[in-house]
Amino acid sequence: MDAMGWEHLTAPDLRGRTVVMTGASDGLGREAALQLARWGADLVLPVRSRPKGEVVAGRIRRETGRPEAVRLTTLDLASLDSVREGAAEISRAVGERGIDLLVHVAGVVSRRREETRDGFELMTGVNALSPLLLTDLLLPLVHERIVVVASEAHRFGRVDLEDPPFRHGGWSLRAAYGRSKLLAMLWSLDLADRLRAGGSAVDLQLVHPGWVLTNLQNATGSDRLDAIVTAVTRPFAMTAPQGAAPVLFAATQPLPPASYVGPDGRGALRGRPTLLRRSRQAMDRDLAREVTAWARSEVGLDSGSPP
Ligand SMILES: NC(=O)c1ccc[n+]([C@@H]2O[C@H](COP(=O)([O-])OP(=O)(O)OC[C@H]3O[C@@H](n4cnc5c(N)ncnc54)[C@H](OP(=O)(O)O)[C@@H]3O)[C@@H](O)[C@H]2O)c1
Repeated sequence: MDAMGWEHLTAPDLRGRTVVMTGASDGLGREAALQLARWGADLVLPVRSRPKGEVVAGRIRRETGRPEAVRLTTLDLASLDSVREGAAEISRAVGERGIDLLVHVAGVVSRRREETRDGFELMTGVNALSPLLLTDLLLPLVHERIVVVASEAHRFGRVDLEDPPFRHGGWSLRAAYGRSKLLAMLWSLDLADRLRAGGSAVDLQLVHPGWVLTNLQNATGSDRLDAIVTAVTRPFAMTAPQGAAPVLFAATQPLPPASYVGPDGRGALRGRPTLLRRSRQAMDRDLAREVTAWARSEVGLDSGSPP
């Protein structure tokens, strides 16, 4: 626990609780999943690569001594069909117990403009649109909390409702990644508001993990340069277990609805989990409603019915 920086808080008892978490096949999601299982949670992990997922599942079973601690399902967030099929597989896996915590960790950074199978700019699709669809499909099963891993990079993002997925130019890694995280934060804010207004017992929390050394940093376009960047930044960035701490904090601690959790150090790069301020744009509720309506129609949902 020391590595996480919140050893002063009580370790949660998650025995009997079901957690569904994307992005657990690598990086900080893998470490968060392992810790949740150590705390007793039963995990359903939707992964796009079953072989990678099996390695993580094996480690979790070994470290917890609980063969039943983890089940894998298949999900590729770069395809809406896969999200729909993945949601159905998750509901079968959780059965009548439902989902206590739904945690969206999966995310991508792409070196050049790429598209999902449905023709969305890749980061927009994987980081913002597919998590919205998955949330909508699973929402009737969720009992307690939804956690969405966003990023301080949302501050680089600008929402252009004429062309949210950069179909007509303006793409750069920074602009597109920033926009994808901003879009995710905006639909999350709107959903949190709707849940509260509807008297739901489910709340939603947002997370910025900090500056964490994972595969996500490998985005220069050159493997050699990636290796140099990793070597130079290693002493400064957080490790994956440290980067998992804000996710675990947001998933398990009592928090005001729609909080934004991240490290307390300068620039929210490193440190202990605390409540962060987000950009003014990310708090704009009118924009959040507009983004939700746009995003829902892009993924084939109705325009924004309350949960
Ligand atoms: N690292 C940082 O400094 C940092 C800072 C701010 C926010 N974040 C956010 O933290 C989250 C975790 O990132 P990380 O740093 O742990 O990166 P990572 O090591 O690259 O892990 C990304 C995870 O997302 C999964 N994923 C990617 N594309 C997917 C797809 N199409 N369908 C399903 N799963 C997919 C990956 O699966 P595979 O194993 O199959 O690749 C992997 O499990 C992301 O949302 C990221 O944006 C990270």
